[in-house]
Amino acid sequence: MIRSHWTPAYLNHRVRNAVYRLRHPKAPWLTPEAVAFLDKWLGRGHEGIEWGTGRSTCWFACRVGRLTSVEHDPAWFVRTCRRLEKVSAGRVRVLLREASAENYARIADEFEDGALDFVLVDGVSAWRDVCTLAAIPKIREGGLLILDDAQRYLPLDVVVPDAVGSRAEPITPAWKQAVELLASWKRQVSCDGLRATVIWRRPVAASMLKTGGPGA
Ligand SMILES: C[S@@+](CC[C@H](N)C(=O)[O-])C[C@H]1O[C@@H](n2cnc3c(N)ncnc32)[C@H](O)[C@@H]1O
Repeated sequence: MIRSHWTPAYLNHRVRNAVYRLRHPKAPWLTPEAVAFLDKWLGRGHEGIEWGTGRSTCWFACRVGRLTSVEHDPAWFVRTCRRLEKVSAGRVRVLLREASAENYARIADEFEDGALDFVLVDGVSAWRDVCTLAAIPKIREGGLLILDDAQRYLPLDVVVPDAVGSRAEPITPAWKQAVELLASWKRQVSCDGLRATVIWRRPVAASMLKTGGPGA
């Protein structure tokens, strides 16, 4: 059966994506543009959280100083831990949190406000809003919040089959609250025709820019 969204343009995006994945077998499941940006931006001095383990976990392990990686699926948790053995060198902590959104998101509470350089929200779809709200205060000035498959939750001007549409409301009250909190953050949207990855950057206070402080 041919599905209605299987247009020539969509098929072209799928082929391009398959080629990209073949050429970059270790890259996270984000848009190629987001991966390229993060590859340049991340450094060994950085600490972050990711919700949703996978290729991204080993990829971050090779680039950042410390990562807390949160997984909800016990089998996938074991698989991620095994894959990490060769590359992690103690830089990555993988945690299994399967019970509830609150339990899953609560990892953020272990960190002081403004302590994190980056957070990737890419785990359980229905829990991403709670994770995003938990992450926002924890990100330092100049730090990044990365949300994959953002088209499913937020109004964005992108063409992807499962997008809520550019005029829709954020799909839950928590997403609405997140959008309000992120209104002053610089937003970078990338789309490969299959997904949209959004990267927000927390603004740097003017005083920090003048002194060349850590957020600059
Ligand atoms: C969108 S994936 C996370 C992807 C990861 N952040 C990355 O970029 O590689 C969300 C969840 O799907 C599951 N998952 C990840 N990769 C999978 C795979 N190849 N097959 C089946 N489940 C997978 C895990 O439970 C994970 O927490």
